[in-house]
Amino acid sequence: MRIDIVTLFPEVALAPLSDSIIQRARAAGVVEVRAHQLRDWSVDKHRRVDDSPCGGGPGMVLQPEPLFAAVAALREPGTRVLLMTPQGRPFKQALARELAGEAHLLILCGHYEGVDQRVVEALVDLELSIGDYVLTNGALAAAVVCDAVIRLLPGALGDERSAEEESFSDPQLLEAPAYTRPVEFRGMSVPEVLLSGHHGKIAGWRRQQALVRTRANRPDLLP
Ligand code: ADE
Repeated sequence: MRIDIVTLFPEVALAPLSDSIIQRARAAGVVEVRAHQLRDWSVDKHRRVDDSPCGGGPGMVLQPEPLFAAVAALREPGTRVLLMTPQGRPFKQALARELAGEAHLLILCGHYEGVDQRVVEALVDLELSIGDYVLTNGALAAAVVCDAVIRLLPGALGDERSAEEESFSDPQLLEAPAYTRPVEFRGMSVPEVLLSGHHGKIAGWRRQQALVRTRANRPDLLP
């Protein structure tokens, strides 16, 4: 897979993707990630890429010319063009799985009060939001999407099972609590069933605990 990110903050987008599992996946050639400076496509001699909103109001809007030029330079047949924006569709695990099947993602990052709507209408296949809060720009949001997608690519995780068993593989249930050694720690012990070696009982306990946790933290997931 190849991912191109267009942003005013390429270092911000790349920093979270330059360590640990994702960096290893990049080094192994599982994915090629590049971040591009939007100002490189500015048509202004001062490298400006934004202007005030038509109709008035606070903040600045990203102009269409640099984004149209960036997409023209980077899009290929089959590219899926995404725009990171709090106005987008909620990003969920099912969408991460869908995007992991693409050959090329081109991720545009919004900034300030938004992006000229002609960009959205003419160029963008999917507007994406990572949650109901507003970040200062879309670069961090793009990194979040990249992380969630890249770890699903074949060869990215050492143990392929861990991606299957975690929360949101079953979208109705969070993961069960996890424990490791030592068995006794500051007066708190690992539940006995997990030490029993009885796989059926362990699976039953995990399912029941997953339900308790989901009811407490994410009742909206339950039918
Ligand atoms: N840009 C700013 N906030 C965002 C969000 N919540 N999701 C995606 N892009 C954003």
